[in-house]
Amino acid sequence: MQSIEERVSKFTRLLEMEQVMATSTDMDELLGRITACSQEITEADEASILLHDHERNELFFRKHAGDMGQLVETIRVPLDRPSIAGHVLLSRESEIINDVPSDPRHYKGVDKATSNPTVSLLAVPIVWGDRCFGVVEAINKPGGFNEQDREILEVLASHAAVALQNLTVMDQLQNYFQHSVEILMSALECLEPESEGHVIRLTRMATAIARKLGLEGEDFQNVWYGGYFHDIGKLLMRSAFVPRSDRMHPVVGANVIAKIKILTKIAPLVRYHHERWDGSGFPDRLKGNQIPLGARILALVEDYEEQWMDRIKAIPLAEFQEEFFANAGGKHDPALLPIFKKVLASFQA
Ligand SMILES: [Fe+2]
Ligand SMILES: [Fe+2]
Repeated sequence: MQSIEERVSKFTRLLEMEQVMATSTDMDELLGRITACSQEITEADEASILLHDHERNELFFRKHAGDMGQLVETIRVPLDRPSIAGHVLLSRESEIINDVPSDPRHYKGVDKATSNPTVSLLAVPIVWGDRCFGVVEAINKPGGFNEQDREILEVLASHAAVALQNLTVMDQLQNYFQHSVEILMSALECLEPESEGHVIRLTRMATAIARKLGLEGEDFQNVWYGGYFHDIGKLLMRSAFVPRSDRMHPVVGANVIAKIKILTKIAPLVRYHHERWDGSGFPDRLKGNQIPLGARILALVEDYEEQWMDRIKAIPLAEFQEEFFANAGGKHDPALLPIFKKVLASFQA
């Protein structure tokens, strides 16, 4: 029987873990911490998280805390053969077994692979709605597991399920976003075959400049997304069959991007990616620092790309670069020019 102090200490640990789970964006790190917390709050020798591989109809050890370490993480538990973890996954009911060797469902493959006999086991399903992600197991506890261990591990598993669901949705959104961008860019390249690879090249160069400037977090991400979407206005104008000047594409693109909540902050980068440091650009003829830094980066690389696409058949790259930088003074942020030179040199190295 646990003392009041022990119970309070364990639930305090659980609360701390909840805060980690609520803010975590890294699946691997999250699972590692949940596993370590499971071992700690149940006072088990080992703890594992097994996830359900639907395609192979197996459970696999995704994370383990304890002496068996990485050895366990190579083991898979087939669901078409008896196993306690498999039973917990399918029944969605937790189990305490304090005499594992005599349980007919015990899957001996794990003990064989680790040479470490499982004596006692507490297994809890990780369930969110109608989905069961897998099972969290606490393994071997001197004196065996009890109902208080079950209660606290069930609370942890229920919070883990919510965190896993959130990360899964985030992962799906990221995947959807990435592929949607690729489809849009492919459509643009179909309309303008001469611009093949332009968006990827520009984004690569612009983000390299941003890195050298020390931009991080959201500022860096905005340059990255800005690179991907800078010419989206061209695609929208073409697909709407609206006969408008090509000079309108930053405005058309920015107006659409501004309506997408997660991209609102890159709208100015899209709108101003053809502005010039000396005020000779378009659409708003902004000057100097009136142009946001991210847009100044995109404008520099966009100008380089457009000029190179015009001259690619006329002169060698080295000669073009010399010419570009000789004529860039005044048009672009002077602080960015030497950085861009270094980026280009590193790409050719
Ligand atoms: Fe462009
Ligand atoms: Fe453009």
